[in-house]
Amino acid sequence: MPRIAIIGYGVVGRALGAVMAEKVKGAKLVAYDAAATGRSVGKVRIAETMKEAVRTADFLFLCVPSHLKGEGLEGAGWKRLARQIAKDAEPSTIVVIKSTLVPGDAAKLQKLTCRRVVVCPEFMSEGTAERDILKPHRVLVGGEDKDAVDAVVSLYRAWVPASRIIRMDAWSAQLAKLLANAMLAQRVSSINSLTALCEKSGGDVRAVARAVGRDPRLGREFLNASPGFGGSCLEKDLRLLVVLAKCLGHPEVAQYWQSVIELNDSHIRRVTRAISKAAGRGGKVAVFGLAFKGGVNDVRNSPSLRIIDGLVAAGHPVAAYDPRMKRLKGVTVESRPTAAAQGASVIAILTNDASFKEMDWRKKASASVAIYDAHGIIQPEAMSILRLISLGRSSR
Ligand SMILES: NC(=O)c1ccc[n+]([C@@H]2O[C@H](COP(=O)([O-])OP(=O)(O)OC[C@H]3O[C@@H](n4cnc5c(N)ncnc54)[C@H](O)[C@@H]3O)[C@@H](O)[C@H]2O)c1
Repeated sequence: MPRIAIIGYGVVGRALGAVMAEKVKGAKLVAYDAAATGRSVGKVRIAETMKEAVRTADFLFLCVPSHLKGEGLEGAGWKRLARQIAKDAEPSTIVVIKSTLVPGDAAKLQKLTCRRVVVCPEFMSEGTAERDILKPHRVLVGGEDKDAVDAVVSLYRAWVPASRIIRMDAWSAQLAKLLANAMLAQRVSSINSLTALCEKSGGDVRAVARAVGRDPRLGREFLNASPGFGGSCLEKDLRLLVVLAKCLGHPEVAQYWQSVIELNDSHIRRVTRAISKAAGRGGKVAVFGLAFKGGVNDVRNSPSLRIIDGLVAAGHPVAAYDPRMKRLKGVTVESRPTAAAQGASVIAILTNDASFKEMDWRKKASASVAIYDAHGIIQPEAMSILRLISLGRSSR
């Protein structure tokens, strides 16, 4: 009957809690989140205090943000968390790091908490969190204490086949997590880097992506041109890799991964300029899609918001529509697409929300309203829209 405490009950913590409540037979689950107290969510009891959650736990799953008041373990928040664990947890408690930290932080946490620490990085995606945790491609369990690693492995065996669980050292597990996200971001930047070349040369980035994706060594995933990568993880994890490379005395490695961030930044600025040009001086822009990707309502580090900031700075009135968001501080959000598009010179499709594919774009476009399609949602061949600007496709 494992007693499991989840610290940090956000996107990762909630999904993990839901899966363990269903799959780990007899588990006693409690969660603590600094921003929520005193409710039960399904079979997971929400503790009022960190002490209450921690004191009887066999396993302590840390699902808090990577940075808490400062960089990773150097931040005051993580140090405080470690002190609380050292004070309140039983000596036998196993601390499981789900949060993405700089490799090396696991050893520091072990020292600060005086508890055995196991690294078990999370690979789920937002929008499919529970499904990803339920059926993971792999679960990495990294640590130096064999018994602690075995204990975490047996917990996961309640729903994950042994062939998908990989034991390794803590450094390798954390490096694998950072590299996985860095390479996903790199793929997005790779295809986005081609959009400018296609627009100038007469190519079509979607045809390029289809052709490249047919190579089984490369595959089709993460090869769709877009306004850029965003969300709470990809850029942050790239930055963690950059910091680590610098700390370990390899500026050339740091520069390599830094260039992926820089390409993304310049791509977002290029998309902003293209929309601004299409709108004309002072023209209103209707932004369709605020979240960092379709199907979620998370705007953390969203390219849409960065584009909106750029458009407003360039003197464009902006109204937004996102099927999953009713309001957002600092942005005019309309609850209906027609209200956002009212009086707009350009409608800019900035997320690949499934509902956008269903819209009748021919009705929305006119001689005076251009459509800027940053996700290739509208098939130019199938729809003769007068003024369609498709990212990565020459208008010649
Ligand atoms: N979101 C993802 O898709 C994803 C995927 C894989 C890994 N991760 C990693 O998992 C970690 C958590 O990510 P998330 O998306 O769940 O973040 P989140 O912001 O959704 O949730 C974190 C929660 O921790 C709480 N919290 C903050 N400080 C706390 C403290 N001192 N004590 C208790 N609770 C505290 C916050 O209130 C919040 O609810 C991060 O390191 C992230 O990089 C996230």
